[in-house]
Amino acid sequence: MERVVHVPLGSRAYDVVIGPDLLAQAGKRIAPLLKRPRVAVLSDETVAALHLESLRAGLAEAGIEMEALALPAGEATKGWPQFTRAVEWLLEQKIERNDIVVAFGGGVIGDLAGFAAAVLRRGVRFVQIPTSLLAQVDSSVGGKTGINAPQGKNLIGAFHQPTLVLADTAILGTLTERDFLAGYGEVVKYGLLGDATFFDWLEANAPAMAAGDMALRVEAVARSVQMKADIVARDETEQGDRALLNLGHTFCHALEAATGYGDRLLHGEGVAIGCALAFELSARLGLCSQECPSRVRAHLKAMGMKTDLADIPGDLPSAAELVALMGQDKKVVGGKLHFILARDIGEAFVTADVPQEKVLEVLEDALRQCA
Ligand code: GLY
Repeated sequence: MERVVHVPLGSRAYDVVIGPDLLAQAGKRIAPLLKRPRVAVLSDETVAALHLESLRAGLAEAGIEMEALALPAGEATKGWPQFTRAVEWLLEQKIERNDIVVAFGGGVIGDLAGFAAAVLRRGVRFVQIPTSLLAQVDSSVGGKTGINAPQGKNLIGAFHQPTLVLADTAILGTLTERDFLAGYGEVVKYGLLGDATFFDWLEANAPAMAAGDMALRVEAVARSVQMKADIVARDETEQGDRALLNLGHTFCHALEAATGYGDRLLHGEGVAIGCALAFELSARLGLCSQECPSRVRAHLKAMGMKTDLADIPGDLPSAAELVALMGQDKKVVGGKLHFILARDIGEAFVTADVPQEKVLEVLEDALRQCA
C-alpha cells in the first residue's frame, strides 16, 4: 500500500514515503542517512504522549538511539522563546553537522524544527515525520521552515528542504475529526487548484477516506504530495507557480487574523472557506461559471466542513475590515493584493488584477448570511 513521491530538487532531492505503520520502520528508513546511530527528535507534548515510544521502538529496531524534546502543543510555540529553547537543546545534545534532527509533529513542529535545523551549525539535515493530515499533505514537503513574529505569521524563516519525509497514514487515526477535516481543506485545495480529476475522485471517495479507509488515505496523501512536489520542483522559492498553493489563503489569513489564530477557526478550515470564496469571486468576475463555487461548497458541506462565513462561531468584522486585514498579508507585492483565482475547477492562476469592490461585494454577501 506504500507510495513514494520523489521531490526532484537536484542535490536537495528527497523522497516522501507514504503508508501505514512507517513509525515502526523509522529506524530502517533513517539508518542509511546516518553517520552515527543517534538522532535528536523535536516533538510536541500531545504527539509525544501518543507516539514517542512507538518512534523510539522503531528507531531501536535499527540500533538508533534517540533523545527527544517535547514542546508545548499549539501555535504559540512557533515563536522565538520555544525556538531558542529548541536550538539550545540541540546544541546541548551535541548535534553535529553530520547528524539528523527529526521533526515529529504537525505543522508547528515541522516548521520550527526545520528552521532550527536550517540555522544550527549553519545547517544540519532533518527528517520530517508529520503527524497531522495538514502536515503530511502540505507543510512537511517543500522546505518552507520558520516561526511567527509579533508582526505576522511565518515572517522569520528559511527555505531548508528535508532529507526524507515519512508520512505514516496510520497515525492519522488518532486525530480528532475536526483536525482531520481541517487538514482535508488542504487536500481539496490541490484538486481545486490544478487537477479536476482529483477533485472528481475526492467527491466520490473522500467520505470513505475520512471514515478511515487506509488505501484511500494513502492515495489522497500521495496525490496531494505529488502535486506539491511538481509545483515545488518548478518553483522552489515561490517566484511564480508556487503561489498557486495559496489558493484560498488570502481570504483565510484575513479570517484567521479576525478570529485570533485560535480555536474559533483552524488554518485548514479557513483554507476551505477561503477556497469557496475564491471560486465565488472568480464566478463574479466572469472567470468561471457559477456552477464551480456551488460544486465546491456542496462538497465541503457533504464532508461536514466549515464552508461559509456563517459557520465561524462568534462575530466577524465588516467586509472593509476583512479587506484591510488582507492588506497585511505576505502576499501583498508592491501594495497590490495577490489573489489565486480560477477559470474552472482545477484551473487556478495568480493575479494582482482584482477590483477591490468585487472582493468587498463577495464578503458583504457572505457576511449577510451570518446575520
Ligand atoms: N504551504 C504553501 C507552500 O508550501 O508553498
